Amino acid sequence: MHKVIFDTDPGVDDAMALLFLHRHPEIDILGVTTVFGNVPLDLTTRNAQFLHREWGISAPISKGADKTIDPSRTDDRAASVVHGADGLGNIGVPQLIDWPLDSRPAHQFIIETVRANPGEITLIAVGRMTNLALALRADPEIAHLVKEVIVMGGAFDVGGNVTPAAEANIYGDPEAADILFTAPWKVTIVGLDVTMKTIMSADYLAHMVKSGESSLQLLSDLSQYYIDFYRSRAGLAGMAVHDSTACVYLVRPDLFTLRTGPVRVVSGGIADGATIQAPDSGRKFIGTPWDGHPSQSVCTFVQSDAVLEVIRAALVEGRPAIAV
Ligand code: BDR
Ligand code: CA
Repeated sequence: MHKVIFDTDPGVDDAMALLFLHRHPEIDILGVTTVFGNVPLDLTTRNAQFLHREWGISAPISKGADKTIDPSRTDDRAASVVHGADGLGNIGVPQLIDWPLDSRPAHQFIIETVRANPGEITLIAVGRMTNLALALRADPEIAHLVKEVIVMGGAFDVGGNVTPAAEANIYGDPEAADILFTAPWKVTIVGLDVTMKTIMSADYLAHMVKSGESSLQLLSDLSQYYIDFYRSRAGLAGMAVHDSTACVYLVRPDLFTLRTGPVRVVSGGIADGATIQAPDSGRKFIGTPWDGHPSQSVCTFVQSDAVLEVIRAALVEGRPAIAV
């Protein structure tokens, strides 16, 4: 069983990823931590409460950071144009949801849960990396107690989605991402290089809804705004399932090709939030900001049809995919 803490900013594709983690029989969600991002923190937290209530998810929810780790960053980098003003495709989520929140702030919840399960927890971060960076700052030793960190973020051999250089989750808090990538733990980065190749068509989603339980109708309803965004703004015949792709990596790493090497994040300037890897197998440089940092893994290739099938099998049938 994979024990997971899911750090998220729901978010349409976050919602699908949450349902995937909940429905997959080999995954145990120990907690969901919220962060500002696609919409402000109060809304991402309210959305997590709403999704837990609607889908009967009992894992604790802990509210996290509402601003970047570097307090001098003040510009609003929310992505409501992609996810709707409410973060869930403008489906009319009630303003207040009566669902409990853990009393601890997210970074404290992460620290205590990791310490209670040494070597067993995978942190999956699919929003800005602020909560994880705060946890590391408060208790650096947790880096040695976490099994793995899987991140949806970054753009390595492809352009960004917020600027030509930067992907949204990194652009939203570049300093936090750099803290996370340079810490001495095992990080696997599932970025736009592979998530923009993992496109779920509107028909595929509709077919899943037809064959699945009622929980999928809500997923479909909240996804329509996001599908329209990708159709009109990116010319895609479907939606990029960024966050679910990162979650699939947990159970099916064999569907991804990795490249190892230290990763740094550009801070400031026109390439603010760009992610750059110094591949272990590439040209050797001396005296650069990559020196001495741990080698992390970046996904460079994905078997996207198989990833979609892994998502479908969990969402529709509550089982691992067979023969992909
Ligand atoms: C990432 O940014 C957010 O808008 C999505 O939820 C995803 O985590 C994609 O760049
Ligand atoms: Ca997200």
